[in-house]
Amino acid sequence: MVKICCIGAGYVGGPTMAVIASKCPTIEVVVVDISVSKILAWNSDQLPIYEPGLDDVVKQCRGKNLFFSTNVERHVSEADIIFVSVNTPTKTRGLGAGKAADLTYWESAARMIADVSKSDKIVVEKSTVPVKTAEAIEKILIHNSKGIKYQILSNPEFLAEGTAIKDLFNPDRVLIGGRETPDGLKAVQALKSVYAQWVPEERIITTNLWSAELSKLAANAFLAQRISSINAMSALCEATGADVSQVSHAIGTDTRIGPKFLNASVGFGGSCFQKDILNLIYICECNGLNQAASYWKQVIKVNDYQKNRFVNRVVSSMFNTVSGKKIAILGFAFKKDTGDTRETPAISVCQGLLGDKAKLSIYDPQVTEDQIQRDLSMNKFDWDHPIHLQPVSPTAAKEVSFAWDPYEATKDAHAVCILTEWDEFKTLDFQRIFEQMQKPAFVFDGRNVVDVQRLREIGFIVYSIGKPLDPWLKDMPVMA
Ligand code: NAI
Repeated sequence: MVKICCIGAGYVGGPTMAVIASKCPTIEVVVVDISVSKILAWNSDQLPIYEPGLDDVVKQCRGKNLFFSTNVERHVSEADIIFVSVNTPTKTRGLGAGKAADLTYWESAARMIADVSKSDKIVVEKSTVPVKTAEAIEKILIHNSKGIKYQILSNPEFLAEGTAIKDLFNPDRVLIGGRETPDGLKAVQALKSVYAQWVPEERIITTNLWSAELSKLAANAFLAQRISSINAMSALCEATGADVSQVSHAIGTDTRIGPKFLNASVGFGGSCFQKDILNLIYICECNGLNQAASYWKQVIKVNDYQKNRFVNRVVSSMFNTVSGKKIAILGFAFKKDTGDTRETPAISVCQGLLGDKAKLSIYDPQVTEDQIQRDLSMNKFDWDHPIHLQPVSPTAAKEVSFAWDPYEATKDAHAVCILTEWDEFKTLDFQRIFEQMQKPAFVFDGRNVVDVQRLREIGFIVYSIGKPLDPWLKDMPVMA
């Protein structure tokens, strides 16, 4: 029986391994992590992450050929294939701070593999890493090898949170990069045969190591670039009376452009897009490619602009002050169908409103109060000026409360900000919400989920990203 061990039981390691276990009953899969609480949760009925369909897959395989353990060394030493799916955040200090990927967790995982291995291993980069990381990992492993042979493969993950299980069961493609040597090709075949249990052969792409590593950064950069492009367009729509949804539809029907990923919003979030583009920028700069670096920088700058623009719009519409006003925040996760709040635009928007002394009442169906408090009290990391971390006012946290449902959040509120596109927000009883709010009652829809016309008929003043402005808002100048 082939044994797989995955180091890192996070948003990628957990779901990916659960799907491999469910599709490959003859393979034993063990997911290990240094976090005891995470492993306890993976072994309980309350999994540590919310992902539609995940519970069923885990229940089906756990205890049969899928295991979660903190005994990292033992399972690494017993495995034939080791996936490394640890976090690779942006460095906040030292050389490359604000851009480069922090490979501390990766390096410590690699050193541990070298320490405990007693047989040949295939080591698979599942984490997103800078191009050429495999070379560094190879050096660490070979220099500490004690005669053991290692093959490093790059197998970046393309799942999207919120649709992870669907994406894993039916991926657009699986990418495997390896050394173009006989042993390297053999390792690629070994990993390919795992995926071939359920992924059609033509969707398994094999490349050299560096192409696979770089393709992951490139994919995220292209995806984020589409969002920043349509968001930049949304600002122009508001200024001219065009409707961004109509523009998206009109351009998306061009088969060269395509209709997906063209929704204007308050900005992209999540743990990957910004981190991976910063990483790409750093690699460009290290290679002396400053023009290429500044092209990608602009994608993040437009995203920051979009978040600031939203806050400015809220404040300027409400007579240029939100001081002491209750604002309901509907949605805190960075997108629907996940409880993940990493880099969610809601953090920047809430911090901006708190900076203007608003009182916030926050509701999200999947994010806990503790998590929101942690996010809002975190020092704001400014990627462009990493040395100047902006502290958050200690008094600001007192102005935040948490609601169990949208109606409680909006009671006596002056405004509602929709920051995550949860389906349940589309079917809210806005008549009831209007009646219990202060007047004039504002809705700022950062995800274009509400029916603007209907809400205006009820009496709301509505701002919806990239849509023709409410007559009220036209008279309220906003900082560009
Ligand atoms: P995560 O933070 O949810 O999980 C990483 C896990 O690794 C944590 O539970 C941590 O305790 C564990 N860990 C760190 N060092 C360890 C060690 N030495 N031994 C054992 N466990 C260790 O991160 P997530 O979101 O799963 O991301 C992992 C990688 O996958 C990152 O490089 C990310 O860029 C990439 N990725 C993430 C996607 C996402 O949607 N979250 C999608 C595709 C790729």
